[in-house]
Amino acid sequence: MTVKKIFFLWIFLFFAFQALCAVPLTEQFKRAGFVEICNKKQGSTTFDSLYAHFDKLIEFLQANPIWAQKLYSAKERFIRSKERNYYSSDFFGFYDESKKEGRNQLSFYYSTHFHEFIYSHYPEFARVLEISSFFAACLEIQKTYENQFNTVAAELRVETIFSSNYGSPSILIKVIKYLPSYSATKPHYDGTAFSLFLDSTDNHSLLLSPYKSAFTSDDFSSPLREFSRELNQNSILLIPGAHLTEFSIYPTPHIVIPSGKVRYAAIAFAMRPGYTPQKIEFSPLPNFKY
Ligand SMILES: [Fe+2]
Repeated sequence: MTVKKIFFLWIFLFFAFQALCAVPLTEQFKRAGFVEICNKKQGSTTFDSLYAHFDKLIEFLQANPIWAQKLYSAKERFIRSKERNYYSSDFFGFYDESKKEGRNQLSFYYSTHFHEFIYSHYPEFARVLEISSFFAACLEIQKTYENQFNTVAAELRVETIFSSNYGSPSILIKVIKYLPSYSATKPHYDGTAFSLFLDSTDNHSLLLSPYKSAFTSDDFSSPLREFSRELNQNSILLIPGAHLTEFSIYPTPHIVIPSGKVRYAAIAFAMRPGYTPQKIEFSPLPNFKY
């Protein structure tokens, strides 16, 4: 190829990329089911440290079931408080499904209101290093993405979902550890406004498909990324959840397939304050066979 041809090819690719960037998010969701955003804010070291804190928390709670029970009681109290409405969800705290066949995973749902609730009603939690360090790491990540949520909501023209009564977007951070025995047979839709896959130690296990009227397992694939953890770059994947249908935005189904290895991931969910999910039948999702 001549130098001239290479030059014109670069010009073409540059404008093609610009054109793609100009495509509204809703259109990109329809075409691909996701949008990749370069994560310049936090690299893999931030998340590796979060996962290390999570491992310490898991070890502590498994060795001290009385604290796991206390955390569960705190969650039960929290979901009866008015702060719960800020998230329209009952998922908070620690879920140990390490011994549940098929699930074989452990997760924590963190939110700033849950954090504050625990520290004010159960001050003894703040004195347990494994808990306070994990909460501090989650809070740091939550704060970093607040603006990202506002930007995305504005671009999608759904800013009104974050009621001004609450001040800032309602964000749930989920940290998850999949064990080697984990398996999953069916994709799912997220019960969120939108979800940001912030990081994972294995991107290839996440498969998704743009929304369609009917699905087969062949519709699902690992999203092609421009930035990769292997090259020490990080990128966020943004997908729509099931709570934006009145804006004609339909959810992206996804599945984490088994890899036979430990996999960590961090996800930020944009929730809808005071929202009652509508009874909508989304397209049925296929079973996966391995
Ligand atoms: Fe999900």
